[in-house]
Amino acid sequence: MTTYNLALIGFGGVNRALAELIRDEPHRFASLGFELRVVAITDLAFGSLVQADGIDLAAVLAMPRGASFEGLRGGSPEPRNEEVIKNGPADIIVEATFTSPIDGEPAVSHVRWALASGKHVVTTNKGPVALYGQELNALAGENGTRFEFEGSVMSGTPVLRLARKMLKGLELNGVQGILNGTSNYVLGRMEEGLRLEEAIAEAQERGYAEADPTADIGGSDVQLKVAILANELLGASLRPDEIDTKGIQDITSDHVAQALANGQRWKLIGEAGRGKDGRITASVRPAALPADHPLAGISGATNAVSFNTDILGAVTVSGPGAGRMETAYALVSDIIAIDEYIKGGVRV
Ligand code: HSE
Repeated sequence: MTTYNLALIGFGGVNRALAELIRDEPHRFASLGFELRVVAITDLAFGSLVQADGIDLAAVLAMPRGASFEGLRGGSPEPRNEEVIKNGPADIIVEATFTSPIDGEPAVSHVRWALASGKHVVTTNKGPVALYGQELNALAGENGTRFEFEGSVMSGTPVLRLARKMLKGLELNGVQGILNGTSNYVLGRMEEGLRLEEAIAEAQERGYAEADPTADIGGSDVQLKVAILANELLGASLRPDEIDTKGIQDITSDHVAQALANGQRWKLIGEAGRGKDGRITASVRPAALPADHPLAGISGATNAVSFNTDILGAVTVSGPGAGRMETAYALVSDIIAIDEYIKGGVRV
């Protein structure tokens, strides 16, 4: 059976969830024809740990937050990301660190180092894909490696690969989606009578919101996801800051109640479409949708994307857009895609 050696860059919620899956469910991977061995972990809090014969995941998952890898065989108190990524024993780099929406760092450097040194990358980070997708896709191609990022939009719900694979043969003219679970949850709770601030506090408690919820409420999280959908699926070359963006910060309880009385629901909509001249334009804005709109019934923290196709019209996919295990599954689906590529030479 094939063994893939992984380096987990960042050991927060998502990569810990992946480590739990590898520890608890080896049969899931065996049935796919491969096994996963974690040979390196780096993290700002823990430092770095490199063991080419495979790290004991049960032991590291049991370490409390605040502990250090220092003192373990192959351990260091420093993250040593560059050294581990470039010279470590992994063949797949699993990038799940913090990323700045302004310059994509430090994630974009991690991805560049990995691809340039001939390693495949799977990531859930939006920043590198939204800001440098073209460059990183090209870098992967030049180095004969894969750059896979299914989890950058709608976490484990496979919208990117689904569109590329299952909508092949259709002309895709636009995408329209509810791409932020926090804002959708907040709007739903406002329909039930909560004020905006109360609903945001609740979304934070439930763990849907980004570390800084202004990215969720102000629309910049959706802006990055729309850039990814437009560039990766519609062939655009949009920078996120070229996407006209307005969040839900000015939606009041009165707006919500008024819309409900008219049979409408406020939603934060991210969209991109091809105009008659072939140009792709995109936007993020709140909209009061009529009840029969394909996205009007999407409630809670659920996300959805509606693909505008020539033969089928609207094809709509809904599913989770956040959550640690849901996002870890996106990494699994990326590793499956790499395995299929390696074994069959096909891109899926
Ligand atoms: N904070 C995001 C959301 C999750 O609420 O949808 C990851 O993008």
